[in-house]
Amino acid sequence: MGSLMTPDEFLFDGKESASEAILYVNGVRRILPDGLAHLTLLEYLRDIGLTGTKLGCGEGGCGACTVMVSSFDQTSKKCLHYAVNACLCPLYSVEGMHVITVEGIGNRRKGLHPIQESLARSHGTQCGFCTPGFIMSLYALLRSCKTPPSEEQIEESLGGNLCRCTGYRPIVDAFQIFAKTEDTLHTERSSTGLQEGEFTCPSTGKPCSCGPKSVRNKDTSGNSLASGLNCRPISYNEIDGSTYTDKEFIFPPELLLRKLTPLNMRGFGGLKWYRPLKLNHLLELKARYPDAKFIVGNTEVGIEMRLKRIDYKVIVSVAYIPELNTLKIKDDGLEIGAAVRVSEFHKVLKKVAAERAAYETSACKAFIEQIKWFAGTQIRNVASVGGNICHASPISDLNPLWMAARARFQIIDCKGNIRTVLAENFFLGYRKVDLARNEILLSIFLPWTRPFEYVKEFKQAHRRDDDIALVNAGMRVHLKEKGEEWVVSDASIAYGGVAPVPLGALKTNNFLIGKSWDQDLLNGALDVLGNDILMKEDAPGGMVEYRKSLTLSFFFKFFLWVSHQMDGEKSFKERVPAPYLSAVQSFSRPTVIGNQDYEIVTGEAEYTDDVELPPNGLHAALILGRKPHARILSIDDSEAKRSPGVVGIYYAKDVPGDNRIGPVRHDEELFATEFVKFFGQVNVEYEELPAILSIQDALKLNSFIPDTKLFANKGDVDLCFQSGQCDHIIEGEVPVSGQEHFYLETQSTLIWTTDYGNEVHMLSSSQCPPKHQAYVASVLDLPMSKVVCKTKRIGGGFGGKETRSAVFAAAAAVPAYLLNRPVKIVLDRDEDMMITGQRHSFLGKYKVGFTNDGKLLALDLEIYNNGGSSLDMSFAVLERAVCCSDNVYEIPNMRVLGKVLFSHIPTNTAFRGFGSPQAMLVAENWIQRIAMILKKSPEEIREINFQGEGSVLHFGQILENWTLDRIWSQLKSTCNFSLARKDVDEFNSKNRWRKRGIAMIPTKFGISFGPKFLNQGAALVQLYTDGTVLVTHGGVEMGQGLHTKVSQIAASAFNIPLSSVFVSETSTDKVPNASPTAASASSDLYGGAVLDACQQLVARMEPIKSKNNFASFAELVTACYHERVNLSAQGFYVTPGLGYDWKTGKGILFRYFTYGAAFAEVEIDTLTGDFHTRKVDLIMDLGHSLNPAIDVGQIEGAFVQGLGWVAFEEIKRGGPAHKWLPPGYLFTCGPGNYKIPSMNDLPFKFSVSLLKDAPNKYAVHSSKAVGEPPFFLASAVFFAIKDAIVAARAEVGRHDWFPLDNPATPERIRMACVDDITARFADHSFRPKLSY
Ligand SMILES: Cc1cc2nc3c(=O)[nH]c(=O)nc-3n(C[C@H](O)[C@H](O)[C@H](O)COP(=O)(O)OP(=O)(O)OC[C@H]3O[C@@H](n4cnc5c(N)ncnc54)[C@H](O)[C@@H]3O)c2cc1C
Ligand code: FES
Ligand code: FES
Repeated sequence: MGSLMTPDEFLFDGKESASEAILYVNGVRRILPDGLAHLTLLEYLRDIGLTGTKLGCGEGGCGACTVMVSSFDQTSKKCLHYAVNACLCPLYSVEGMHVITVEGIGNRRKGLHPIQESLARSHGTQCGFCTPGFIMSLYALLRSCKTPPSEEQIEESLGGNLCRCTGYRPIVDAFQIFAKTEDTLHTERSSTGLQEGEFTCPSTGKPCSCGPKSVRNKDTSGNSLASGLNCRPISYNEIDGSTYTDKEFIFPPELLLRKLTPLNMRGFGGLKWYRPLKLNHLLELKARYPDAKFIVGNTEVGIEMRLKRIDYKVIVSVAYIPELNTLKIKDDGLEIGAAVRVSEFHKVLKKVAAERAAYETSACKAFIEQIKWFAGTQIRNVASVGGNICHASPISDLNPLWMAARARFQIIDCKGNIRTVLAENFFLGYRKVDLARNEILLSIFLPWTRPFEYVKEFKQAHRRDDDIALVNAGMRVHLKEKGEEWVVSDASIAYGGVAPVPLGALKTNNFLIGKSWDQDLLNGALDVLGNDILMKEDAPGGMVEYRKSLTLSFFFKFFLWVSHQMDGEKSFKERVPAPYLSAVQSFSRPTVIGNQDYEIVTGEAEYTDDVELPPNGLHAALILGRKPHARILSIDDSEAKRSPGVVGIYYAKDVPGDNRIGPVRHDEELFATEFVKFFGQVNVEYEELPAILSIQDALKLNSFIPDTKLFANKGDVDLCFQSGQCDHIIEGEVPVSGQEHFYLETQSTLIWTTDYGNEVHMLSSSQCPPKHQAYVASVLDLPMSKVVCKTKRIGGGFGGKETRSAVFAAAAAVPAYLLNRPVKIVLDRDEDMMITGQRHSFLGKYKVGFTNDGKLLALDLEIYNNGGSSLDMSFAVLERAVCCSDNVYEIPNMRVLGKVLFSHIPTNTAFRGFGSPQAMLVAENWIQRIAMILKKSPEEIREINFQGEGSVLHFGQILENWTLDRIWSQLKSTCNFSLARKDVDEFNSKNRWRKRGIAMIPTKFGISFGPKFLNQGAALVQLYTDGTVLVTHGGVEMGQGLHTKVSQIAASAFNIPLSSVFVSETSTDKVPNASPTAASASSDLYGGAVLDACQQLVARMEPIKSKNNFASFAELVTACYHERVNLSAQGFYVTPGLGYDWKTGKGILFRYFTYGAAFAEVEIDTLTGDFHTRKVDLIMDLGHSLNPAIDVGQIEGAFVQGLGWVAFEEIKRGGPAHKWLPPGYLFTCGPGNYKIPSMNDLPFKFSVSLLKDAPNKYAVHSSKAVGEPPFFLASAVFFAIKDAIVAARAEVGRHDWFPLDNPATPERIRMACVDDITARFADHSFRPKLSY
């Protein structure tokens, strides 16, 4: 015991508190008033009008809210610049600092910052919602580096930023020009494998289109378009030195002189917020408020307060207490203050590892590796080491390592007494640690390792970047030479993610001690470990068999790793065979190889939530049910009504018009009357009713949505099966899981009345403003002519804002109308994910007949989609699935029956691909099975069964302009498939624990909406006398480049520059009754409509033009005006030739088809299930692309979203598959538990090309639709993973076919790679559970 205190140091009465709290934002000094302690920095910034910083999730998981914080360190006399997530940053924690937001680095008036410029030029933004966050992450990196960062540093700095649209590649390309690279090295590296005509960018050194020989860099009007336009290397000096200095904000001089002062502030609900700067003050506060929450980064407490709604009364920021910030390199180890940030700790570890003897730093290296995969940069910049320890999360990445590495924690009490406790004894129970109410953690001591002492880290998560662990571990062993043997003198194995606490494997530790490090030790230790780490079948987190397998796999890897380290030591005999070294290689990846709207990159682009709430406006929030299926017995809202600020609570009885809504059938309730589905704040008494929560449940109970049966037939399936022609007939079931849209901007609407409620106007984030108009009119009982919905742009939709968004507009309309006040509704991320519906999960039941050669003869298919609690678009989704269930294969006899199931989950809805990826995945599953049965490659089976020109499809349409054969053979040669197969086989033969796999997948996607009436588009084109053109059309811009494409069409029709055309917001009072912006058809429809309007205007102006010689378009338009020519035209387009009758199975359902194919190569770690994609080659036929740069961006974005569906994004909902969750509860309702691909998940090499010389006579300017068709091609990665698993199973003699469900998560990959370890916990037919 010791003491740091003297008795007179216990006073903290706030006298030293600053007279005024201040903050600089973008160079402007702002006084922070008292009373705002409940606010985050993000809320504050948006309240003061800086809406460039976005709210994407509110839980530190997306990076949309990234800003840079600069502070002055009085000790080192240096400015520190770092990126933070403003959504988790308490406002007062940045008091006395300088915050720079995206508005502060460049804008239209001041000029763009080079980062913004580069991103715009490289087509690195689509919907733009994520863009400010990406820019600020890079900006903070550049400002914090003394020299230009490396490419690796740049990619690492973006690990905490998610983008759902672009597929990341253009962002990487845009940002890499700020990296310091050896140009020659880079150029040489990337030049290999370039196609003829491709060009190596002198700046990024990557293939790009800025070169003279580029084939991708011309739009239809000959303008340069593609990435790298005019690109040149941008030196660091331009950012922080010479040329840019005058525009860059300097660190405010006042803050250089001003010392941080203690703070004593208050917030809403009596919240007290302190920032002491001395240890004695801190301890005094601890004595006064023993239950106070201490914060440093607030990355745990912020989540508790925001998502778990825990109400803390006293918060104390301990971030600036010197004793808690110590970092001392001592003779026997490293002393780390509890408030030291993880990023700072990481830096010091790297320094120590570089400077000290290698044997001393084994633990340091383990921490270095582990921190690489600890959260994203923004979190690591603020999260503290002590916060991680004291929060005692069972999945903390560091705690098992502290335990294994013999770390000691120093604890201080309010009186200054210090005691020390071993890390392994510190964790007592779930979130319970050995700290008394009057104690805090002072520091941590990490001892150096001794000779022959080895420490190793392990972590397996769903996604490598920025994800919490499923299981992690720290392992240490100390070996001593004893005679001819090396024996274990000390060992410590500790796991996270297997119990409510970080868990030491005590029996295993005891077993190891004294044993010789050899094969017997390994076998014995695996046996003991199997019984040491016990997990119940319904353990929280699920995946019990997998997690248990991981504990052993990690130890197996540890054994091999230590043996490898010891290799060559005298008398050490346990040599690792070469193929086994594959178990111990750590993952490392090489760096990865749109008409841009300037407003988007500056944060000036306005989304619905950015529009200021008018005076008198209100915020609306939804009250959600707490049960999946229950009858409401009574509701007590008295407490809710008493809450400060509540104006009213509205129910079905308050709806002036119709409470029943729905896009196709009115089978939903806006506000629940008798039955409920989710949870909320009002006290509701329920009678629980049986709930249907999965496809299996629904099928068992014959729970179908009425009138949703669909049937397609070709040939005679029964006759074929009976005829004996089929050498093989197989039957099986393929469950296909759903997917969350995860658009970065959540559902939002601002709605208000005018003329005393006679008219209603709204701004909505919607893919279909007319649907909002119709819902609101119906709910309020108003004519549609009095309701207007406008949409400027949306932060991603992907189908999720086609119908579901209208529900929230309708809900907000009720109070807005009844109170005559503006109402804004913006869903929180978790609410949005819980209630807005997802991609449909499916079940396909197939029976396929085929010959010994692999020729398909008959398919009998039943497909079911899980519609959820109402019809919404489920029948249309099913229709497309039925049509796509042949993918690209000629099946002479084919019968498909489809049905929509009813269940008690939120109604599922449209999502990119609209049912076709699910149906095609079923098809490719049985293709792959046929190949395994016949011992042929799946690619061969695919190829011999391709459809062709003139093929009659199972729904009667005849194929025309078939280009898949060309695509396929071109792809086969560009990816050099036969060589790739040989290389992969060779790799697999040399590596026991890593396997590679390859696959080539084709696709065809019919273009048109199913219902014929939707295949129409209208536009309004207006000419002004200054020669500018205003276009308004029915489509919504959501990052897919629609406005750019229609602008190009207008510009080329009038032969004027693109900059003369402006596309205004979509509005129901300009273009009525527009179809949803969906089905990939918008460019065709609105491009056609705009062309029609332009042609009318050109024709009207022609008589005047032909008589005169005008110097400019403006002169022509002015002359026409003077001649009283109507300069406004309404254009209209209907897709010609369509007409299909499902009863007769005859007619034209799709105007044309878009074709494509992709090759993928992956590598899996068979012991953990980790995987990465090494290569993707993709070719699409897009006719004569309207804008190749935009189209390539769409392809990459769709592919990466598809990659999420096939390999990352798992939906977990309480139900038969996940009994550890409350029934119906969606566990994966935020970026914390639901993992979309991050930048690190990009293929190492990703090449996309467009088929040449393939004009499409059926669409505007011979182009083809692109938004959805490439999505399914990501399944090439899925089947490459399966191919790799086949190789792994062959190692244990298993050559039989096996199922693999999507997403192919680490759990599914690992458990399919059966071996001695998995056999201890599950048999070879084990199939991980799936919510579907
Ligand atoms: C998006 C995201 C990703 C994440 N990823 C990871 C990850 O990959 N791996 C991982 O391990 N964690 C991860 N975390 C968890 C979190 O970042 C860490 O636990 C972090 O280190 C906590 O530090 P903090 O300073 O932010 O804690 P705070 O939230 O500020 O505090 C956490 C707790 O510690 C207590 N506390 C803090 N200091 C002391 C002290 N000196 N004495 C006593 N009690 C104290 C507080 O009272 C509080 O209960 C992630 C969190 C988020 C939001
Ligand atoms: S909004 Fe802050 S990280 Fe997502
Ligand atoms: S552009 Fe990144 S989320 Fe839309």
